[in-house]
Amino acid sequence: MQSFLFLIGVLQLLAPVRGSPSGTSQNIDITRPSPATCGNTSDAVPLYSANSATYLDNFYSTTISQITAVVGAQGYTFQGVAARVFNTQETSTVPLFHLFQNVVIDSFYTTSATERAQALQNGYIVGGTDAYVYPSQICGSIPFYRLYNSGATEHFMTTSADVRASLLASSAWADQGIVGYVLDANPCA
Ligand SMILES: *[C@@H]1O[C@H](CO)[C@@H](O)[C@H](O)[C@H]1NC(C)=O
Repeated sequence: MQSFLFLIGVLQLLAPVRGSPSGTSQNIDITRPSPATCGNTSDAVPLYSANSATYLDNFYSTTISQITAVVGAQGYTFQGVAARVFNTQETSTVPLFHLFQNVVIDSFYTTSATERAQALQNGYIVGGTDAYVYPSQICGSIPFYRLYNSGATEHFMTTSADVRASLLASSAWADQGIVGYVLDANPCA
């Protein structure tokens, strides 16, 4: 009896699908990222972020020991996962260079060799690069926005259009465009 009722339930669930006109509910996009163009997206890892209200700095890293080092000894506050990226250079990805200004304390990230060279001329030193991102919006990736607060010498990156808009609403922050393209912090998004 129980399995009979279960069967009825299953048939009822199937009914709308069977009855729907062809080309509507059947038209499900099943394209998946292919390793040949997207790298192996199963290898994507969290890009963690930590903020220092003392130094006015935002630090991003895929390396947990780096995050715990700044959160512990340097008193940064853990901010969670900013995005998912790769920690090795998968197909189609480029390095997200990390540069660091250790006098005014500013963590700066760029995929641009030109920006990297300019930063090195302007007193930044090479930080450890441990994140790789897409240079264009492929493979279900989303923009990783960068903003800059010149008064605080502080760079900030986010995937959130809302967070970006609210910072830009304050005159302290300037838009620095898109650093690269990353996967959403939530793997199911
Ligand atoms: C993708 O990565 C996962 C986890 O590292 C691994 O199990 C799988 O074999 C990889 N797939 C390909 C196509 O390399």
